[in-house]
Amino acid sequence: MRVYDLIWKKREGGELTREELEFLISRFVNGEIPDYQMSAWCMAVFFKGMTFEECTALTLAMIDSGQKIDLSSIPGLKVDKHSTGGVGDKTSLVLLPLVAAAGGTVAKMSGRGLGHTGGTIDKLESIPGFRTDLSQNEFIKQVSQIGIAIMGQTKALVPADKKLYALRDLTATVESIPLIASSIVSKKLAAGTDAIVLDVKYGDGAFMHDFENALDLARTMVEIGNRAGRRFKAVLSDMNQPLGLAIGNSLEIAEAITTLKGEGPPDLTKLCLTLGGLMLFLAGLSDTPESGEEMLSEKLSSGAAFAKFKELIEAQGGNPKVGDDLNLLPKAPVIRKIMAPCDGWIERINCRTLGIIAMELGAGRNRLEDIIKPEVGLRLHAKVGDYLKKGALLAEVHALKDSDAEMASLQLVDCFHFTLEPVDRPALVKVII
Ligand code: URA
Repeated sequence: MRVYDLIWKKREGGELTREELEFLISRFVNGEIPDYQMSAWCMAVFFKGMTFEECTALTLAMIDSGQKIDLSSIPGLKVDKHSTGGVGDKTSLVLLPLVAAAGGTVAKMSGRGLGHTGGTIDKLESIPGFRTDLSQNEFIKQVSQIGIAIMGQTKALVPADKKLYALRDLTATVESIPLIASSIVSKKLAAGTDAIVLDVKYGDGAFMHDFENALDLARTMVEIGNRAGRRFKAVLSDMNQPLGLAIGNSLEIAEAITTLKGEGPPDLTKLCLTLGGLMLFLAGLSDTPESGEEMLSEKLSSGAAFAKFKELIEAQGGNPKVGDDLNLLPKAPVIRKIMAPCDGWIERINCRTLGIIAMELGAGRNRLEDIIKPEVGLRLHAKVGDYLKKGALLAEVHALKDSDAEMASLQLVDCFHFTLEPVDRPALVKVII
């Protein structure tokens, strides 16, 4: 087999076989295929696409490049979720204990944040003492004992993705649906769970701005997952404004706790119930996603979901008292209030810019090596469709120092667009696949 021929075949729109894709990935990972040839192949994929058969074969070949987590010693079907990332997306913090409280077995490997979107691991680490560096044995033991564990993704999973993504990042080939889908699904499958619900976000604050592209990505990932023999479903959710009201690690933990007590923002609560209903259904714990949602609503109102979150915190070395006293979470020394500049309905929010403002305050990373400041971020007091009088509270900036708060405040006001015409609240979930 010659790499040249495989590049040529894809350039001409041909379909590569499983053996050819395995050859490409294994030889690329061990250094036999140079970056310039792999880059040319990625560009050919970018323009010619891949069939579902090829996407699945590529995904399986990528998984074979590294370690696979074996969860078979834990009884029952193990469930996971994955979000393509967004601003204020603290869904996992609420959803996972909620599903575990309803009897789901949740084994979750999560990532850290980069750019304008946050990461679950960074958020959890703002709880004093919380450990995310569990060993595989600790992870499996904890899932067996309390039905839930959340740990950082190990570097040993899918090394092919790390190498290929770095190349795509430098060769303008990141935005290829088959390559994105196989990158995401390979990591999820290698993590060993049986059923996965994907939250694919679209809009200004999402990785995929365009709804049609997000739909295509969701369909491709579900198809790969199902062809690989796992249970997959996807939800398409709106990311044209932040999810909930809080952006920033400690602020998002506080909002997640409030939501687990049944008093959270309606959009966040609804998304967690939708995703959770699907997780229970895929795990065989409810007859339909809707009856799964009903089970979960009961777990919110009974306090069982909140109790499960405290159990999770305690099991991973954190202080479970944060659940009852939010003042135990890190607090920013400077809090600046931003008022509405005019009367009107909010018709649009620059979601991505809010994520960048929060990142620049220290809530996220511009570069991998940046250190997160857990206490900083933004708290909104209004969303799209809300009416405000001039001078009403619009948002808060939580900062380390006055100059940071000043800079963020100036940018933040421009992120809210007002109109004198009434505006409907946008639908959060558009499609379930
Ligand atoms: N996220 C991933 O994990 N992989 C991609 O290719 C793009 C986004």
